[in-house]
Amino acid sequence: MAGLYRRLCPSAAQVHDLLEEGEPLLNDHIALRTFNLPQVGLDRLAAPFIAIGYKPCGKYHFEAKKLYAEHFEHPNPLAPKVFISELMVGQFSSLLQQTVRDLVNQVPESAMHDPAFLYGGRLWDLDYATYELLAAESEYAGWLAAHGFGANHFTVSINQLEQFTEIQEVNHLLRHNGFLINESGGEVKGSPEVMLEQSSTMADRVSVSFLDGEQEIPGGFYEFAKRYPMADGELYRGGFVEASADKIFESTNQ
Ligand code: NI
Repeated sequence: MAGLYRRLCPSAAQVHDLLEEGEPLLNDHIALRTFNLPQVGLDRLAAPFIAIGYKPCGKYHFEAKKLYAEHFEHPNPLAPKVFISELMVGQFSSLLQQTVRDLVNQVPESAMHDPAFLYGGRLWDLDYATYELLAAESEYAGWLAAHGFGANHFTVSINQLEQFTEIQEVNHLLRHNGFLINESGGEVKGSPEVMLEQSSTMADRVSVSFLDGEQEIPGGFYEFAKRYPMADGELYRGGFVEASADKIFESTNQ
C-alpha cells in the first residue's frame, strides 16, 4: 500500500521526517473511497479487512456530500482503524450516474477477488474532460475516478509524540515547512468534549495520466489525530466525529 500512497502523496516522506522521533509513526487510521455500485461497493472493500479480523464499528452519513461511511477496527489496538466511504451514486444527475457506471463496468470481476485491488489504483480509464465533468458535480467523484482504489490519507496519532501535545503545534510546524492546512470548519476539527481532535494538510498536487495526457490534480494528504483519555484511562475508541470527518473530505478539493 505504501508505494502507491507515496505516489499520491509525495510529501509523505517529509511529514515523516518532521515528526518521527526514532520510532515509526503510529497510524490512527487509513481511509478508502468507493462508489456504492454492487461491483465495487463498501462491502467489497471491507471484505479483505474482515477476512483478517477487522470488525464493523461505526456508521456515518454525510448528507450534503451524498456519502455513506463505516469504520472497522482490529482487536489489536495498534492496527490502524479503517474508514471506508462510498458515494451514493443514485442521488446524483443521470449524467454522473451513467458516467460512473461506464467507469465501473470496465473493472474486470476477477480484479475484485484479489485483495490487491485495495491498493491497485484506477481499474478503468478516462479522459480529462470526464474527470472535470465528475469533479464539477462532486469533488469526491472526480478524485475517485482519477485515482481509483488506495488510501487517500494516513493519519498520524499525535498521542504517541513526545515533542507535540497539541494539534495546533503540529499544524504550526507543517505551515512553517510550506504545507497548506485544511481550514474548512477551522484548522482543528473536533474538541476535547467529543474526545477527538483532527487536522489535515491539503492534498499534494500530483500528475495523473488520462487518456488524453497528463494533468496535475489533488492526490493524497496527511491527517493528524489526538484522542482524549476516557474514564477508564484508555484513549477514546469511539471511532470518528461525523462533523469533523465531513470537513476532512475537503482536503482533496481543488
Ligand atoms: Ni481520516
